[in-house]
Amino acid sequence: MSLPQKVKIIEVGPRDGLQNERQTIPVAIKIELINRLSQAGFSNIEAVSFVSPKWVPQMATSSEVMAGIARQPGVTYSALVPNMRGFEAALAARMDEVVVFGAASEAFSQRNLNCSIAESIARFADVAKAAKQHGMTLRGAVSCAFGCPYQGEVSPQAAASVVAQLRDLGCDEIDLADTIGVGTPKKVQAAFELAAREFPLERLMGHFHDTYGQGVANVYASLEVGVTTFHTSVAGLGGCPFAKGATGNVATEDVLYLMQGLGIETGIDLQAVVEAGLFISQHLGRKPASRAANAFTARAQQTA
Ligand code: HMG
Ligand code: MG
Repeated sequence: MSLPQKVKIIEVGPRDGLQNERQTIPVAIKIELINRLSQAGFSNIEAVSFVSPKWVPQMATSSEVMAGIARQPGVTYSALVPNMRGFEAALAARMDEVVVFGAASEAFSQRNLNCSIAESIARFADVAKAAKQHGMTLRGAVSCAFGCPYQGEVSPQAAASVVAQLRDLGCDEIDLADTIGVGTPKKVQAAFELAAREFPLERLMGHFHDTYGQGVANVYASLEVGVTTFHTSVAGLGGCPFAKGATGNVATEDVLYLMQGLGIETGIDLQAVVEAGLFISQHLGRKPASRAANAFTARAQQTA
């Protein structure tokens, strides 16, 4: 299959990235990060989640964050919601899109949502119905699609089965998520090929964490089998608090550099993303976890 001319990149740093930070990040910093990303050209930013603050304290300020951002026309702002309580909060915050997040592994579903996969799907059914009623788009996530921190191996069949259940709820797009970053290219391709029997490939998305350094390779492998939407995180922020040892998503800057080299259009200003990454990294007191961002910064310092 030839590579696409254009891909969609969903920036998930403000949610998937920041949720994992231990220090409380001020609302103003979260707002500034989202505003900077909004101006960089993303068509979709996963900005917040409306989950139990006991489970994920960092996301407790999501309503304030959404009330404070400067919404950019044409940008879809998304929020994760695990149940109707979360949906109501998302509606009040005027989210454009809600994301229900299931898992391909029973063990992870219990740790992340405190219920079985079947119970989670039943809860999502109400959320899906309400989202449609309110004209919001609906995304579905399949966590641990390539491996689980508690259960180990996860078969492509298990991931495809959750894809089918999310499809039946009416999800507009569905991602296969490598929560702990263990996937490698052939495994990723096999899982997408199986998932594509359940749901149109053009609406499947890759969500790769970079724990084992496979993020960019997995993006490329997905491109080869026809996937054209990816989730990435500015400065490689993040991880999941319920998957110990998992590091951030593949860095947005690294994926944009890859796409630039392949001549694939993204509509996103790489330099603006590098600067947004430096902004948040400075606040967190560390260097961006993006090879491309650090290379650009070093080059700029040399020529200054
Ligand atoms: P529970 O304890 O079984 O449920 O949690 P509960 O109904 O007993 O609620 C517990 C408390 O939370 C109650 O408060 C509820 O009112 C409150 P209390 O009465 O004790 O004071 N509560 C809420 N508060 C705010 N918003 C809500 C909400 N719901 C209940 N929506 C629950 C069940 C699903 C709530 C919990 O397990 C939860 O919030 N889980 C979310 C976990 C999470 O956010 N994980 C990270 C995101 S997933 C991820 O990162 C992976 C992904 O990136 C893909 C990948 O890489 O794999 C998507
Ligand atoms: Mg994730």
